[in-house]
Amino acid sequence: MAKKKSAGHHRWRWKLGFSFAACILFLFVLKLRQNSLIGAHEATVPESELISLQAPDAVPNKIAFLFLARNRMPLDIIWGPFFQEARADLFTIYIHSRPGFVYDKRTTACSYFYGRQLSNSIQVEWGEASMIEAERLLLIEALKDSSNDRFLLLSDSCVPLYNFSFVYNYIMSTPKSFLDSFTDVKESRYNPKMAPIILKNKWRKGSQWFALKRDHAAVVASDAVVFPIFRKFCKRRPLLDSWRQKHLTGDPSKQHNCIPDEHYVQTLLATR
Ligand SMILES: *[C@@H]1O[C@H](CO)[C@@H](O)[C@H](O)[C@H]1NC(C)=O
Repeated sequence: MAKKKSAGHHRWRWKLGFSFAACILFLFVLKLRQNSLIGAHEATVPESELISLQAPDAVPNKIAFLFLARNRMPLDIIWGPFFQEARADLFTIYIHSRPGFVYDKRTTACSYFYGRQLSNSIQVEWGEASMIEAERLLLIEALKDSSNDRFLLLSDSCVPLYNFSFVYNYIMSTPKSFLDSFTDVKESRYNPKMAPIILKNKWRKGSQWFALKRDHAAVVASDAVVFPIFRKFCKRRPLLDSWRQKHLTGDPSKQHNCIPDEHYVQTLLATR
């Protein structure tokens, strides 16, 4: 599934992962890298009520657009026309925003966002475990609709680079999830205390943004084993601290900076 990459390549992927504005493009770049797609055979389906049966044939499969937003959607004028030309029965929208933030005509120009915020959203610290929790809340909500077949995680800075029919056909045409996943070359981010639940050879890194198939989405939403380990042992060090460590001590063995949302889904699916 994942291969060790050269340091240069690794850096390139890292930057790409942070390129919020291009996360849709990012999904398309992955198309060129078949080895980073996660196949159906690589994760098993847990016994969980979250997995519902296949949608009846009469109901078309939908893409669930899951937005991890703070409050206002800065690019709503682009999303409006995008959803406007879409068949209404081919998509659903879910937004995790700051608790209490409401999408209506006062706060967004895109009517498709009206009332789509989760009612149980939490306060998210960027790059902390609470980010993973927000992703899981989105997945749990979207899985309740049995016609949602693909689960696309987006930030509030994402823009669609193609029209809806293109995106829909593209995502539906592959039986795999789109998830950037590779062996983490910087092993110091792995904490040995994570064993035996997460073994070192299952430790993965990738971009936070994904398009998951329904069975993979259910694995993430129902996980009660790997997430607690992340919460406990995968912590982001304060930025200043991190800089000091790197530039003043230069001791790589002391660098223990773990960004949960760039490891969680990849590592979880690798442990299955
Ligand atoms: C959507 O985009 C594709 C590829 O750019 C194009 O071939 C197609 O005609 C477009 N469809 C619509 C409905 O605009």
